[in-house]
Amino acid sequence: MKILGLEKETIVAALTHGQVTMAIYGLGKMGLPLAVIFADKGARVIGVDSNQRVVDAINAGECPVAGEPGLPEMLQTNVAGGRLTATSDGVSAAREADVMVVLVPSLLNADNSPDLSAVTQVCLNVSRGMTRGDIVILETTVPPRTTEDVLLPILKQSGLKEGEFGLAFCPERTSSGRAIQDITRSYVKVIGGIDAASTATAAAIYSVINEKGVRTVSSATVAEAVKVFEGVYRDVNIALSNELALVCKEIGVDPVEVFTVANEPLFAETGHPYTTFLQPGAGVGGHCIPVYPYFVTRTVKSDTSLIKTARRRNESMPTYVVNMIIEGLNEVGRSVKDSNILVLGLAFRNGVKEFRYSPTIPIIQRLRELRANIFLYDPLYSREEIEALGSTYTASCRNMDCLVIVTDHKEFKTYDWSDISRQMRSKVIIDGRQIVDPSQARKLGFVYKGIGHL
Ligand SMILES: NC(=O)c1ccc[n+]([C@@H]2O[C@H](COP(=O)([O-])OP(=O)(O)OC[C@H]3O[C@@H](n4cnc5c(N)ncnc54)[C@H](O)[C@@H]3O)[C@@H](O)[C@H]2O)c1
Repeated sequence: MKILGLEKETIVAALTHGQVTMAIYGLGKMGLPLAVIFADKGARVIGVDSNQRVVDAINAGECPVAGEPGLPEMLQTNVAGGRLTATSDGVSAAREADVMVVLVPSLLNADNSPDLSAVTQVCLNVSRGMTRGDIVILETTVPPRTTEDVLLPILKQSGLKEGEFGLAFCPERTSSGRAIQDITRSYVKVIGGIDAASTATAAAIYSVINEKGVRTVSSATVAEAVKVFEGVYRDVNIALSNELALVCKEIGVDPVEVFTVANEPLFAETGHPYTTFLQPGAGVGGHCIPVYPYFVTRTVKSDTSLIKTARRRNESMPTYVVNMIIEGLNEVGRSVKDSNILVLGLAFRNGVKEFRYSPTIPIIQRLRELRANIFLYDPLYSREEIEALGSTYTASCRNMDCLVIVTDHKEFKTYDWSDISRQMRSKVIIDGRQIVDPSQARKLGFVYKGIGHL
């Protein structure tokens, strides 16, 4: 049933009574939970993915996305109930659907310019199958103006004119590992359509699944800017913490102590702190924060030197870690060459199986150039997965000269450092995430170096 421009109550009723067919493009960590949640509310959902293995798994009731509590059970129920099916045929899905949601990745090219090829390719397929009264919703983060300047012209290739179909940008504001919770009840959904009917229709659609409600804005470009600027804000603030952590080292203070106290509530009436320093660390990874600054710096003519400087600071942190490794090993009379170095953590963030732009990658690359014996362990990755990346897998600290903590996985926080100190050949800890107590480590005889630590 076409729902563009209908009253909210009519849209909600049609969607929850299975009269609306949705095609959701991109069944990854974000798209699959979204598809399952809409199906669970009663919509008829066709999931579209270019990866046939993902499609086959879903149609068999198997969940191809790991680490999302509740997702496998919800997927199984909705596939068995006939509300969720998957296909790799994006054009026929668009022909059948009334609402198309795009949630494929947006990444960077080798020169850091935005790579929107997956989004544009999906929209081309949608344009080949869409009909009057359909609404297309983009959730993938894109450079501001993409919806109006890039997507709208592609969708018009369908032969439909503006107003005959809807188009809105409604950003994904979810974190991997808590997608179901975030999509259904953590944040309000920001909704920006290219016209009033698109905004109102998208708002009605998301009101079905989001308990926190929706926040409509005046255009798709505003919604795009909200999402991208959130990422830029985080990147710049992490860069500030990283830079000040290095200052702390020079002036002889512990950045953890400084940031902790500075972040304590200042205003008694509100309990609000004056500052909110983020955690300094070995580098910023994942396919969001390191990517979104370039969505601004590479697409506008304005002076974005502050954002560029911040990005450079964060991109320099893996080099800083390698320098700490060199210093630490020198202090125990070793050079990096031929030292046994165990890197702890491949994932860019604790508990999330994703290593795109992980600082571990440049750290290992540089250590390889310096001809260290490198070992890698991450509790989320199997031996086969680590070896497929060309690294040697081991979880054992025996005979190591240096441990390098790059990810703050909870498993690393419970390590018995006293036991580990007895197993290692030379005792050097490089702590890129401040999870080891420096004074305890030094008492055990370790050379300890952390970001900004003395
Ligand atoms: N993961 C997060 O924490 C997060 C948070 C906020 C926003 N986002 C946004 O969501 C986007 C998607 O993230 P994700 O984590 O779900 O990615 P993902 O890599 O887990 O999944 C993407 C899926 O899209 C499929 N795909 C790729 N190209 C396709 C195409 N042309 N046609 C059909 N399917 C295609 C892939 O096979 C894969 O299954 C991100 O690029 C970002 O813009 C992600």
